[in-house]
Amino acid sequence: MKRIKAIYPGSFDPPTNGHLDLIERGSKIFDELVVAILRNPEKDPLFSVADRRKMLEAMTSDIDNVSVDTFEGLTVDYALRVEARAILRGIRAISDYEYELQMALMNRKLQPGLETVFMLPAEKYSYVSSRLVREVAQLGGSIACLVPDLVERKLREKMDVALKFEKGEAAEGPSKSRKKKA
Ligand code: PNS
Repeated sequence: MKRIKAIYPGSFDPPTNGHLDLIERGSKIFDELVVAILRNPEKDPLFSVADRRKMLEAMTSDIDNVSVDTFEGLTVDYALRVEARAILRGIRAISDYEYELQMALMNRKLQPGLETVFMLPAEKYSYVSSRLVREVAQLGGSIACLVPDLVERKLREKMDVALKFEKGEAAEGPSKSRKKKA
């Protein structure tokens, strides 16, 4: 019998409970699922690829058929390299649909043999995105229940460092450019 391997590509900056929910669902329908973190040199992420990989590995350590990897370049090329037959993507709401449809059709154009499979995360995560989690955490709001505990801890650590850095800067007084303007 053919084993079906899928990749779940994304930025995962940071991984959320919505991502984990989708990974769990995907792991039940595919024989193998590779969570593939895009290494995008043009983006300025909050977490390094290494940090994101560690978090995702810890989050998925008890799911036997799930592994974590990183890739650069086209998703379809990576999928071909690891001999995956499907790309898993989540659709939370209708607002995701247009972008996901465009991406799926472009990927099909590039690699017709590769299927995109959409799954819905649990409704309770339908509003959760990495971008909003970053924003809420950066502004001091609670992100409990939106991300796994270890991600919450890592976010807090990042925010504490940023806060200390800010305080350190404030103690030195206004920067040269600000002095000039005053
Ligand atoms: O979690 P994200 O940021 O929505 O994931 C987007 C991702 C990484 C799946 C997409 O940007 C992607 O596939 N990038 C790799 C480059 C690529 O293949 N581009 C063409 C997509 S049609």
